[in-house]
Amino acid sequence: MQKLVIEGENRIGGEIHIQGAKNSALPLLAACALADGEIVLHNCPRLSDVYAACRILTCLGCRCSNRGNTVEVNARSISGYCVPDELMREMRSSIVFLGAILGRLGECSLSFPGGCELGPRPIDMHIAALRQMGVSIKEEHGVLRCTCPKGLKGAKISLSFPSVGATENIMLAACLAKGDTVIYNAAREPEIADLGNFLNCCGARISGHGSSTIYITGVRGLHGCEYRVMPDRIAVCTLMSAAAITGGEITLTDARARDVDAVIPVFEQMGCTVFAYEDRIFLSAKRPLKAVRTIRTMPYPGFPTDAQAIVMAALTKAHGTSVIVENIFENRYRHVDELVRMGADVKAEGKVAVVEGVGRLYGANVIATDLRGGAALVIAALAAEGETNLSNVKLIDRGYEEIEKQLSSVGAKIKRESV
Ligand code: EPZ
Repeated sequence: MQKLVIEGENRIGGEIHIQGAKNSALPLLAACALADGEIVLHNCPRLSDVYAACRILTCLGCRCSNRGNTVEVNARSISGYCVPDELMREMRSSIVFLGAILGRLGECSLSFPGGCELGPRPIDMHIAALRQMGVSIKEEHGVLRCTCPKGLKGAKISLSFPSVGATENIMLAACLAKGDTVIYNAAREPEIADLGNFLNCCGARISGHGSSTIYITGVRGLHGCEYRVMPDRIAVCTLMSAAAITGGEITLTDARARDVDAVIPVFEQMGCTVFAYEDRIFLSAKRPLKAVRTIRTMPYPGFPTDAQAIVMAALTKAHGTSVIVENIFENRYRHVDELVRMGADVKAEGKVAVVEGVGRLYGANVIATDLRGGAALVIAALAAEGETNLSNVKLIDRGYEEIEKQLSSVGAKIKRESV
C-alpha cells in the first residue's frame, strides 16, 4: 500500500503539460480489438487503468506493448472473446470491450463491470442497444454471455440518457455491423469525438460524433492506424483547482480550452483570472476565493461530474456559501466526510452539497474514496495547515500520471511513501 504525504500552504506556480485523457485512451484501446492491423497510440497516459486495458487485449490474443506514453496494439490474431472476471472488476470502463469484441468476433462473455462505487452503475442501456442490433444476451450468475448468430445489424437507437459508455459501445459494435446505425441522444463528450475520429482513421464510416446524433455505416473491416490521444480535460480542471486553492498561478500546455468551457467560468466566478487559448490555459488566483452560487453537473457540454469533487475542494476555502447539485451519479459525495476531517464545512444530502467556506483547512489522515474524490483530497491538502497523509493512493493512480511528480514540478511539497 502507498500513501501521499503533503505539506500544505505552498503556492502552486509554473507550467505543466497535460497528460493524455484516461477516458479517451480506454475506449480507444478497446477499439483496437476491431482492427486487423498495427495500431500506434501516442500520448497514452501511464495509468493503472490503461495497463488493465492492455492486459484485457493480451488476454484476447492481441499483441500489446507499452513504451512510455506510446502503446502499440496488433489485434490481427485476436482469438479470445472472454474477459477475465478480475480484469472486469478492476475498472468499469472494461464494459466498452463488449461492443468491440462483438463487432470483431460475434460473441463475448464478460462479468458485470466494477469500478468506483459511485452508486449503481447499471448497463441497461448498453444491453438494450446491443439487443436491438441482434445480440442475444443471457445473464448467468453475474456473467453476460453474448452471441449474435446472424451477425450484428445496424439499428436506429435512441438513448434515454446520453450515456458515455453506452454511446461508445454502440459505436464500436456498429463499425462492422451490416447496414446503418443511428444513435439519437448520443453523449457529446469530447472523448466520443476522439473515438469517432480514431475509428475513422482505421477505416470506419462515422459522422456526427461529438453531436447528439451519430451516424455509422458498417464496413467490412478496419485496418491499423497511428493516432494521438486527446488531452485529459479533467486533469486540466484538477490543476486549475490546485492553483486556485493555493492562491497560485499556472500555465497548462496541451490543454484544450474548448473542452472545459463549462468549468472556466466557475473559476472566474471564484475570482481567478483565466486566459484560455486553443492549446493552453493560464490561471492566476488571488485570495480569498469567492463562493459560487450553484454548480449543477450535467452531461457535456454542461459542468462535468468528474470535476465536481475537484472544484468542491477549492470551494471549501472560498468566502461564502456555494451549492453543488450532482445530477449524474447517485453516490458521488463520498469525499465529503474526508474533507470535513480536514476542517471543511460541507453538508451533503441526496443530490445537493452545501459548502460554507472556511478560513483554514488542517492537515489530517484521510483516505481516497474514489478517483476524483481522492484528487479532491490532494487539492485540499495543498492548502491545509500542516501535513496530510492520504492513503489508498491506488485509486488516484487510476486517473493521474504520478500525481506527486506533476504537483511537485509546480511547487507542491508532496511525496509518495509505502505503508
Ligand atoms: C464515463 O463513465 C466516464 N468513465 C466517467 O468518468 C464519467 O463520470 C461519466 O462517463 C460521465 O461523464 C469513462 O469514460 C471510463 P455514463 P460511464 O454511462 O460511461 C447511468 C472518471 O472519474 N447509466 O455516462 O460509466 C449511470 O449509472 C469516471 O474518470 C445507466 O443508468 O458514464 C450514471 O448514473 C467516473 N444505465 C449515468 O448514467 C446505463 O446503461 C452516467 O453514466 C449506463 C449509464
